[in-house]
Amino acid sequence: MIFVTGGAGFIGANFVLDWLAQSDEPVLNYDKLTYAGNLNNLASLKNDKRHVFVQGDINDSAQLCALLFEYQPRAILHFAAESHVDRSITGPAAFVTTNINGTFELLEAARTYWLSLEDDARADFRFLHVSTDEVYGTLGPDDAAFSETTPYAPNSPYSASKAASDHLVRAYHHTYGLPVLTTNCSNNYGPYHFPEKLIPLIITNARAGKDLPVYGDGLQVRDWLYVTDHCAAIRRVLEAGKPGETYNVGGWNEQTNLSVVHTICELLDELQPKAEGSYKDQIKHITDRPGHDRRYAIDARKLERELGWKPKENFTTGLKKTVAWYMANDVWTKQVQSGEYLQWVAQQYNEDEVEE
Ligand code: NAD
Ligand code: DAU
Repeated sequence: MIFVTGGAGFIGANFVLDWLAQSDEPVLNYDKLTYAGNLNNLASLKNDKRHVFVQGDINDSAQLCALLFEYQPRAILHFAAESHVDRSITGPAAFVTTNINGTFELLEAARTYWLSLEDDARADFRFLHVSTDEVYGTLGPDDAAFSETTPYAPNSPYSASKAASDHLVRAYHHTYGLPVLTTNCSNNYGPYHFPEKLIPLIITNARAGKDLPVYGDGLQVRDWLYVTDHCAAIRRVLEAGKPGETYNVGGWNEQTNLSVVHTICELLDELQPKAEGSYKDQIKHITDRPGHDRRYAIDARKLERELGWKPKENFTTGLKKTVAWYMANDVWTKQVQSGEYLQWVAQQYNEDEVEE
């Protein structure tokens, strides 16, 4: 079986669903169920014996060790993290605790378990660390895209904590020989994306008649990848990646935030027209994110050259599917937009002055 951390979050849940749609190899899904973890993402696996869910914190080394020794997974896929940049600005401590300390505890538990394995199982074992392109910092308009050899230059508490976790993972290979793989991916989008992030926030706010908040001039650039393409990349790296190597994953799809927001509005204008005007009328430019990285772009040629992975979805088809998913899943959205979410939105957006 495989051991997945953070499998109730956006990418982790997509990964678990995708994995079990293609394979009968069971998954142990270990997740703390923070505000971002949601068992409704996995509702279709109810009563599916191939999926074992355990609620727990990656800082709990005793529980991690007990589960690893009990279930004997052939691989650990590490998705669990605090993942939202804006929250890392207002509350960085949780990012250090989970992304750095938690990854350390997980590595220690993995090392203890890995050392206990028989020779063949030890050689086949993999620890796959899911990381981000944000560790490379920011690009100017004409800079080459991030490659696996771009020096690390993280700018936010989130990206600094992910960079630290990447370094720990690297060190566990170099020092102890733990067979690790690291993937550094660009911005994902798709079903089950928590509506604190740009694309689901814009879709849900637009449909609710609320402001569409664009930070600063909206000309920051991100490289968007449909989430199932990321899942396929992770499966491929797990299958054929070389221990100790890192692989960049990206969509070859750079877009300004304003262009993403406009495209969502145009799709909604077509699919769910307003009585009057366009969804674009709801766009509001608000105070910029402190330290906002201007541009990310991923050079994913290594993954294509060495392991044959390429994204299947393009932005037009991926975004259409995503908007359609949110239109068909109002119950899911309502359920996540409660309690803690409302507090976050009030804190993050209501106090913002509007810059036209
Ligand atoms: P998410 O915030 O949607 O989900 C994170 C999950 O981790 C949640 O289910 C949460 O409950 C769980 N979790 C948090 N702290 C935990 C802890 N201490 N112990 C156990 N579980 C814990 O995040 P996501 O967007 O799905 O991102 C998953 C991974 O992919 C992260 O490591 C992130 O850095 C990385 N990543 C994300 C993107 C993106 O665009 N979303 C892009 C590249 C890389
Ligand atoms: O690049 C990969 C990273 O992508 C992941 O590692 C992170 O976990 C993930 O959250 C994402 O980070 P970003 O900061 O790029 O994503 P977010 O959706 O928060 O923002 C995308 C862009 O949109 C960014 O330039 C900020 C801007 N934005 C975001 C929000 C929430 C707005 O203009 N308005 C908003 O309200």
